[in-house]
Amino acid sequence: MSRSSPRPYEFKDPSFRRSLSLLQAFRHEQDDPEACYSLLARDAVDQVEAYDGPVAGRTVVDVGGGSGYFTEEFRRRGARAFLFEPDPGELGEKPPDSTVIADGYLLPLQDASADVTFSSNVLEHVADPQTFLSELVRVTRPGGLIYVSFTNWLSPWGGHEWAPWHYLGAERARARYRRRTGKAAKHTLGENLFAVHIGPTLRQVRARDDVTVVSARSRYWPFLAETVVRAPGIREVATWNLLLILRRCPP
Ligand SMILES: C[S@@+](CC[C@H](N)C(=O)[O-])C[C@H]1O[C@@H](n2cnc3c(N)ncnc32)[C@H](O)[C@@H]1O
Repeated sequence: MSRSSPRPYEFKDPSFRRSLSLLQAFRHEQDDPEACYSLLARDAVDQVEAYDGPVAGRTVVDVGGGSGYFTEEFRRRGARAFLFEPDPGELGEKPPDSTVIADGYLLPLQDASADVTFSSNVLEHVADPQTFLSELVRVTRPGGLIYVSFTNWLSPWGGHEWAPWHYLGAERARARYRRRTGKAAKHTLGENLFAVHIGPTLRQVRARDDVTVVSARSRYWPFLAETVVRAPGIREVATWNLLLILRRCPP
């Protein structure tokens, strides 16, 4: 599997070009996951480097990284990156070498062992996001960067494969998905998908004394990516996907 095709555009975040390219890739997530996820991985690592400088030589922990596109991209740029994924079914046929089957609540890592801790679109899949975040913080060294993004419940994509019908209720949306596709939906609210909101998440993260919030922004928006997150109420629908860039405080 090639995971290093040329970048289709110059990375500029936020920008219309970037958002449009990502949107086009998302539309082909099912029929061309390779193109979609390798682009998303390049984009996410670009974001990490924009906040924290080159990742070459750094230790990166990718928690809940699925089949490993992000881990592979970090490695391609010279990082010592490791995938920690609890579900063997998510790993695909050829996960990155040294992949560890592990739950993000309890990582088999010493305190402060990572320079960068990375978690893309996992927070809405755990029942206790704050405990999950605490574990990411624990394994990050003081001064290290924590990248966490998630699709919040009231986002147009909050219902995942049954979006946007989740606005009418999760059960109804799931039933509709089954009727339309003839197959059971992957996600069930309260089992492997949880209604995580932006306001409470921000308040909890800002109340912590072990991290500072470097940025709280929309991950994909082409403009006003931080501004949209400052508007209570509106942000729950308009942010689409919240990206938190955190820095671990000294002990
Ligand atoms: C939507 S996928 C995201 C995969 C990848 N990070 C991405 O952005 O494409 C959600 C991932 O979260 C993982 N996950 C769910 N619960 C987890 C937990 N407690 N600890 C770590 N990962 C978890 C799932 O196994 C799955 O791989």
